[in-house]
Amino acid sequence: MLGSYPILFSIVTSLLFIVLLPAVLIRNNGWAAILWNEIIVQQINNFIMAQSKEERILNFVLQNAVRGDPQSVVDTIDKYCSQKEWAMNVGPEKGLILDKILEETKPSVLLELGTYCGYSAVRIARLLKPSARLLTVEFNPDFAAIARQMIEFAGVQDKVKILEGPSETIIPQLKKKHEVDTLDFVFLDHWKDRYLPDTILLLDHGLLRKGSVILADNVIVPGAPEFIKYIRNNNRFECTNYPSHVEYMKVKDAMEKAVFVG
Ligand SMILES: C[S@@+](CC[C@H](N)C(=O)[O-])C[C@H]1O[C@@H](n2cnc3c(N)ncnc32)[C@H](O)[C@@H]1O
Repeated sequence: MLGSYPILFSIVTSLLFIVLLPAVLIRNNGWAAILWNEIIVQQINNFIMAQSKEERILNFVLQNAVRGDPQSVVDTIDKYCSQKEWAMNVGPEKGLILDKILEETKPSVLLELGTYCGYSAVRIARLLKPSARLLTVEFNPDFAAIARQMIEFAGVQDKVKILEGPSETIIPQLKKKHEVDTLDFVFLDHWKDRYLPDTILLLDHGLLRKGSVILADNVIVPGAPEFIKYIRNNNRFECTNYPSHVEYMKVKDAMEKAVFVG
């Protein structure tokens, strides 16, 4: 009987460690919160439900949003991700910054790098004039499949085209394969180490014109320091920073707008 105490003690201390350490980290550090959600909580949910988080988001939309109403799709994703499971959509707070810049810019040809479940694509599409089109790039085929259904359910499939593949392959094909002359608006929201090389690719392929707007998400968390250094020290761009918070969290983040002045 007495021999079982050390085992019991190590089980209890391990459980306390597993529960308390993340709680402390999450209170103090946005990164820890995201990693905890993505690695631990999500994997447990995936295992229990035999479904990915992105499938759960889509199913919640299919069951609760109004077909053909992009605002309802955006609101329903926000409801799920603020109340049930965190996800890396641009979210409602930074979404308002995105909306405002789109309303000021009135773009006709748009590129998004990083589609994920299609939240920002639907959000952008709902504000576009009838003749405008958004090309959105996603290299994860599972996410692209979810986004395709999300975009179709929102009824914006005529305005949005998903280009499946890595941004570094797709950007050089935009002119010839996708009939793009220049881009009016680019939303950078893929992996942060690609922000700078893909901006340089856009320049090298003559895809930016005087007045083209680049909007970059997550310039604090996870952060894109090389991109920020390059863009702010380049007199071909005029930059504005928009302080905000990480989607569905109180952790500080920001968006950076860079207007190409030629
Ligand atoms: C932050 S999520 C995009 C969120 C989306 N813009 C929204 O707000 O709803 C980033 C996405 O970019 C994709 N991604 C990352 N690097 C990429 C690359 N080099 N080419 C294409 N897709 C990429 C990831 O698979 C992920 O789905």
